[in-house]
Order: sequence, then C-alpha cells, then structure tokens
Amino acid sequence: MNKEKIEKKYKLKIKELIKHNKLYYDKSNPIISDSQYDHLKKEVIELELKYSYLNSKYSPNQNIGFKPSKSFEKYKHKIPMLSLSNAYDKEDLINFEKKIFNYLNKNINLNYSVEPKIDGISASLTYINKKLVYGVSRGDGKIGEIITENLKTIKDIPLEIKKDDFPNEIEIRGEVFIKKKDFFKIKDSFANPRNAASGSLRQKDPNETKKIPLNFIAYTFGYIQNNSHRNQSDFLNSLRLWGFKINKDNKVLYKIDELINFHKTFEIKRFDLDYDLDGLVYKINDLNLQKRLGFTSNAPRWAIAHKFSADKAYTKVLNIDIQVGRTGALTPVAKVEPVNIGGVVVSNVTLHNEDEIKRKDIRVGDIVKIERAGDVIPHVIEVDKNKRDKNSNLFIFPKICPSCGSKTIKEFNKITKKYDAVRRCINDSYGCERIAIEKLKHFISKDAFNIDGLGKKVVENFWNLSLIKKPQDIFNLDYSKIEKLEGWGKLSTRNLKISIENSKKVTLQKFIYSLGIRHIGIENAKIISNSVKNISKLIQIIQKKELNKFINIDGIGETQINSLENFFSNEMNFNILIEMKNILNIENQSLIKNGILKNKTFLFTGKLDGMSRAEAKALVEKNSGTTLSSVSKNLNYLVIGEKPTKSKINNAENLGVKIISQQDLENLLN
Ligand code: IVH
Repeated sequence: MNKEKIEKKYKLKIKELIKHNKLYYDKSNPIISDSQYDHLKKEVIELELKYSYLNSKYSPNQNIGFKPSKSFEKYKHKIPMLSLSNAYDKEDLINFEKKIFNYLNKNINLNYSVEPKIDGISASLTYINKKLVYGVSRGDGKIGEIITENLKTIKDIPLEIKKDDFPNEIEIRGEVFIKKKDFFKIKDSFANPRNAASGSLRQKDPNETKKIPLNFIAYTFGYIQNNSHRNQSDFLNSLRLWGFKINKDNKVLYKIDELINFHKTFEIKRFDLDYDLDGLVYKINDLNLQKRLGFTSNAPRWAIAHKFSADKAYTKVLNIDIQVGRTGALTPVAKVEPVNIGGVVVSNVTLHNEDEIKRKDIRVGDIVKIERAGDVIPHVIEVDKNKRDKNSNLFIFPKICPSCGSKTIKEFNKITKKYDAVRRCINDSYGCERIAIEKLKHFISKDAFNIDGLGKKVVENFWNLSLIKKPQDIFNLDYSKIEKLEGWGKLSTRNLKISIENSKKVTLQKFIYSLGIRHIGIENAKIISNSVKNISKLIQIIQKKELNKFINIDGIGETQINSLENFFSNEMNFNILIEMKNILNIENQSLIKNGILKNKTFLFTGKLDGMSRAEAKALVEKNSGTTLSSVSKNLNYLVIGEKPTKSKINNAENLGVKIISQQDLENLLN
C-alpha cells in the first residue's frame, strides 16, 4: 500500500472511532460490542506503530475516553482520571513486574492490592469539610462533567462524613454500576448494565436517575490532604470505616502465581456475583512506591488490569428448549442465566444437536463455559463437572416432535455411512406448527418474497391471529381486520396491500426457493427452474413422479431429489404449488442468451438500494451476464452499494476493474 492509501485507511478508522465514541459517550447507545470497539482501537494503534507519520488528535493514544456530552457543566480534574494498562496472561504480568524493577533499578518483593474491576462508570467525589461538594464524571480523563445531583441520588454515596479522621479535603474515586438483577428489569432499553448505568447518570433530571437503582463502590483517591495511609489496602479499610462501600472481595496477594490462581477462580466465581466485572485490578500496595513509580502518559506504572476473556464466560443452564426449524430439524437451545460477554448480554446458547448434548453431557443445572466470538452463535465449550449437583439427571432428548407430536428420525447418510447428528420431525409441512411458522418466515425472507411491511414478527403475529396459516393466505388477507389491529392503521394496511400485490409477479426460480425445501437453496432453485422453464411443467413432473429425471442436471444429486420427492409427497405442500399457480404471476424462466450483459462479469459489494443481492444477481443473469464471487482479473465490473468492503475496492483498483454504482448498472440495462 502506498502512503496515500495508508493515510486514507487510517482516516477511515479514526472516523469510525469518533462515531462509536459519540454513540457510546454522548448518546449512551453503542452499536458495537466492547470487544469490537477494542479491536478498532487496536487497529488504529497498530497502524500508528507501523507508520510513524500517522497521527490524529482523536487517536486512542491521545485520548483516554471521549469528550463529555455538552449538556453538563465541565470540571477540570485536579488529578487526571487515567485508565489502566491491560494484561491478559502470565507473560503480561511478568513484563509488568519487570518494568517496575527496571524503573526502580532493583528487584524487590512486591505486594498487591487485588480488587475486582467492576464494569461500570467511574466517578469522582470531592468532599470539603466533610461534605460532598462535587460529583464529577470521568469525561476524557482531564475534563469531566458535573453530575453532583445525579450522584447524590445513589444511596451508597455518603453526603456527609462525621468521622474525625476524615480529611478536610479529599477526592474519592469509585465505580457507579447497576446490579445484574436490576438491569434485567430494564434490559430492553440498554445493551448491557454498564450502558444502563451510564445512561442513567447522564439524565438531565436527577429524578430520572433515581428511577434506576445505581450503586457505588469506592476504590481510590485522586487528591487527599495529609495522607497518613501507607498502603492501598489501609486506605480501602479507611474508606469502609468512613462509610463507603468497598468490594468485599478485595485482598492482598504477593506472587504472580497467586494472582494467576485467584484470577482463575474469580473468572468462574464472577457469574455468581450480582454485578458485572471485566477483570481484576492489581495495584502495588505500598503508596510510597506508587508515588515513586508515577504515571506514563495515560496509565499508572503501579497498577494493571488483568482482564477476563472477552468472549468466554461461565453461566448456569436453566433449561433446555427444543426448537423446531423450517426443515424439521430439532435444535436444542440452552436457556442460561443471562451473562455479559464482551458487552453483549447472552441468555440463549445453541447446543447444536442431540449428539452434541450427549458428547458433552450437558444437563439442566450445569455450570458451563460458553463462548460468543464474532458472528458465531453463542455455544457451550465445556461443562464444569466439579460444580455439578449429585442429583442431576442426564438430559433425555425428546423422541417425538415437541411441536406436533410426530415421530422424529435421524437420517442415515449413505456417503459417510453414519446416522445424522440432527434429529428431525418427519412432518416436513404446514401440519407442524413450528415448521409452518418457520417456513412462512422463509417465504417472506429477503431473498424470497421480501414483502415490505411483512417481516418475521408480523408473520408470527398474523399466525397467532389465524390470519396466515399457509403461504396462500398471504394473498388473501382480511385487510379490514388488520386495519383495526394494534400498531396498524389505514395507511400501513394500504401499503401492505400494495406491496403484497406487487410481489405477485415473481420469477420461477424465486418461487421455488421460497417454498423452503430442504437442500434447495437459491442456486438449486435456479438450476431447477432453468430445467423446467415453467411452473406447469414442474407440476407435471411431480404428478408423474418423474423428479428423479433431475439427476441428469449438473448440480442436482440424490440428496436434492430425495428431498424434493419427500417434500412434494406431502399433499399440503403439493397443493401450495397448485393454488399458487393461480394466485401468482410466476414468470417463465427464459434465458436471454444474447442479452445486453453478454460476456460481462459482475461482483456486488455493500448494501444495494431497494433490492437484495439475490435479486441483483438474477437481474444480471437474466441479461446474460455472469456474477463472480471474488475480485479477479476476470472481473469486468465491481458494483458498489452502501458500506462496501474496502478490500474489494482496493483489489479492483489494483487490477483495473471498473467500479460502478447501482445506478450505473441500471443505466447499462437501460
Ligand atoms: S483504579 C489510575 N480500581 O477501571 C487508576 N479502577 O481502566 C485507575 N475500575 O476508569 C483506577 N474497578 O472505571 C481502579 N478497583 C478499581 C477499579 C477500577 C474498576 C475501572 C475504572 C477505571 C478503569 C480503568
């Protein structure tokens, strides 16, 4: 990459960072998880390390947090409120000690004040003549916002301290947080307890703050007049005697191995606690040593945060539900005690299938280690068998469908010569309630009918009201009833009616895909529709029981044919074809061999306006163009929509591929 491109990339990352800072600090409404945010910060820092010419005043190296929102009066901290460096493993801790020894120029025996790192919002409380006069947020570390009245509503914060040994002037710092159980009462409004605490503290009206039960735990001082304490642990003890809440799990430890062991036990214990924490803080206990060691530009040399894993956590299995999917697969889902993993509160965890439960021997009541990484669905890594109740029972997977009571089976795979891990309801049709709802959701999904105003929630609601039980019902809705439903009105009902009418014109390929037949995705639907050309022919083939003819088509195998036969052998499924043929306007599949895009290749990136990716591809193919799956020298056009993938654009530029907009493509098609 040349300098210009690197700078461009860096600026984009900084821009993203500013956006997420704003969402987090100003609006208390982050749209990415903490670990995604940390990743973004890391990317920026790594770029700066690699290319020394990069810098920005918004760099995480310059800023500790983000400028406070404009709506509160500002306050310059007497002593900056810094952040902590992070450690993730033993090596990081050894390095931390090494740096201290280097700085002091000798090896000494250290002892640490070990404190749980509550994942909340830090606040500073200034007491003058034993009375609370200022309550300030951290802000960007240098300048905070005065939120005294809001902080005063927290019952853990003493307004006046009558103890003789309480300093005349002192600034006490600690964490404002919301307990897990209180968070669950308001969980629909915030992503996690920390955002709830932050949102509540930022209310303009303290009466609003009062509504959310906040807590405060004290852990350090900023400024203190005539400090007589020798150790951090002594100071914590004084805080307690003065009437502040301190963490009851604070302790003093000596060796790195002790720190590691305590961290290990605490990582499991943390799910039993009534508040979220993201690690442990280790502080050199000796306050004189702390003073000598001092600070780097944004963190003390005498303390470090030993973080817990950002994507794993322990929790308890409360129940195991069996979900029935669109094609009848029975998927076990563990309902777990809600747990915060990297800023996202997880309460459902997939157990994949019957075999997986057996293999890991997962039981109701078990303590399990779960993982939530990237876009992967949260899943169980292992069961902590030491914590298992002696009387716990093996989980018995149901042998009948929990939705319709039909028999369930595990199919035998002729190729692998093994039984499938997945158990299925044999009633792959609208006769099974859960399958029916899932099939309907598929029918209206983005790459299928994609009807404006008819999303998954609406379908579920209409199902419960018996307005839609089968796909045909969508085209025969009782609009006078819908108009009177809560959340609906004349206009929205009219719009729904229009979009349903518009969706009646559909390609054969899309129609076949919409049926939600197992193993028949977009590609196979296309292959079949190219072969049969029209809906009548398809019906004829099914009626004559000639589906196995498809075996000659490239791409279709025994699996697909079995699935088609199985699906259409069900009368209800077959009737959908017959009825829909009359209701819809299913276009014949006519391939224009000499279309306007002949010999041209296309690739899409980013969100397109008003059409799905599948529809765009179909459009290209209808006009004899081809779509490719990656940028290569064979590519003629890269079509970019909203938020395109940067690397694709870069590659295309390097290879001299034409980059066009959706509008350009539409112009090409006239
Ligand atoms: S000491 C300069 N002690 O962690 C020392 N911080 O990343 C900074 N935190 O902003 C603070 N528990 O919000 C300290 N026992 C504890 C803490 C703690 C939580 C938070 C605090 C701070 C952040 C630093």
